[in-house]
Amino acid sequence: MNIFITGVAGFLGSHLADYCLERGHKVSGCDNLMGGYLDNVNSKVTFYNYECNDLNSMIKIMKNIDIIYHCAASAHEGLSSFSPYSISKNTVDASVSVFTAGISNKVKKIIFCSSMARYGDQNLPYTEDMNPKPVDSYGIGKVAAEQYLINLCKTHGVDFTIAVPHNIIGPRQKYDDPYRNVVSIMINLMLQKRQPIIYGDGEQKRCFSYVSDCVDTLYQMTVNPKTNSKIYNIGPDEEFVTINKLSELIANKLKFNLNPIYYADRPLEVKNSYCSSAKIKKELKYTTSISLEKGIEKTIEYIKNRGVRDFKYHIDLEIINEKTPITWKEKIF
Ligand SMILES: NC(=O)c1ccc[n+]([C@@H]2O[C@H](COP(=O)([O-])OP(=O)(O)OC[C@H]3O[C@@H](n4cnc5c(N)ncnc54)[C@H](O)[C@@H]3O)[C@@H](O)[C@H]2O)c1
Repeated sequence: MNIFITGVAGFLGSHLADYCLERGHKVSGCDNLMGGYLDNVNSKVTFYNYECNDLNSMIKIMKNIDIIYHCAASAHEGLSSFSPYSISKNTVDASVSVFTAGISNKVKKIIFCSSMARYGDQNLPYTEDMNPKPVDSYGIGKVAAEQYLINLCKTHGVDFTIAVPHNIIGPRQKYDDPYRNVVSIMINLMLQKRQPIIYGDGEQKRCFSYVSDCVDTLYQMTVNPKTNSKIYNIGPDEEFVTINKLSELIANKLKFNLNPIYYADRPLEVKNSYCSSAKIKKELKYTTSISLEKGIEKTIEYIKNRGVRDFKYHIDLEIINEKTPITWKEKIF
């Protein structure tokens, strides 16, 4: 099959590209390189350094494509309350452009990476049958994109699946982005002998998944027609961990003398947040093959090999006021 991956220089998109290539598919993709790293892109991928928002270019490069994975996004949930325009441009507009280009080129199926932010702050664990109730701009953007996808695909007879990955970790994740990716940020800081920064009391509970486990399930969505018109949470619902505990796990692996720096809560950050995996386990046989500790080890190895980096404030703050985290206002990372 001819598979097109948006955000192919990103963390998830680049792993997905490798997985599809290994299974004999032809892969092309685009990325505007606002995130990700160019060297994440497999040399066998036909790569376009294009903006998803450029509809005419998207229409041109999506000729003869069977499947689209739409992974490109500015997946900055915390930042989205302070840079809502930038985040919505890369979450909503970019998605509508990609869906339009794909459908006008008669693709067979579109698989969209949504986010756990779609659920907001509902009872735990989040299940796919819950109505979306996003509490921030990023979540609102993802839900809007889902609705465009469902509406456009149904109108024009194109198959689709909505994937809801959550808190993925692993090599190739951007670790010099001060706005997201807690595990990679903490490793980058501790390797520089700097203390990690924790928002609030650090007792927020999360559940992390390793990238290869997610990619396998995402791939099944191309080949298993039972996944059509459905939504799936992807990731484990075990090994819950607080942000405090997470910093300890990383510090232990690095033999780092931990003394985290605490800053005020970020507005709208959901205290405890995790999804049910019951549906994906039952229907797509999802299993966790890499534990959190192993995942952390592999991420450390990647960052060590590549070398620590200074943080780059690559997205401008659009709203600066007393609620804006001081870490971003004063570029503390
Ligand atoms: N990583 C996670 O834990 C996680 C969790 C839930 C959902 N997701 C979703 O999965 C997808 C992939 O996430 P990721 O962690 O790989 O993010 P990532 O930032 O590593 O990759 C996204 C890529 O999209 C590119 N991009 C952004 N806007 C673009 C645009 N307008 N045009 C072209 N390229 C653009 C970026 O440069 C980046 O390389 C995203 O849609 C994200 O919302 C990720």
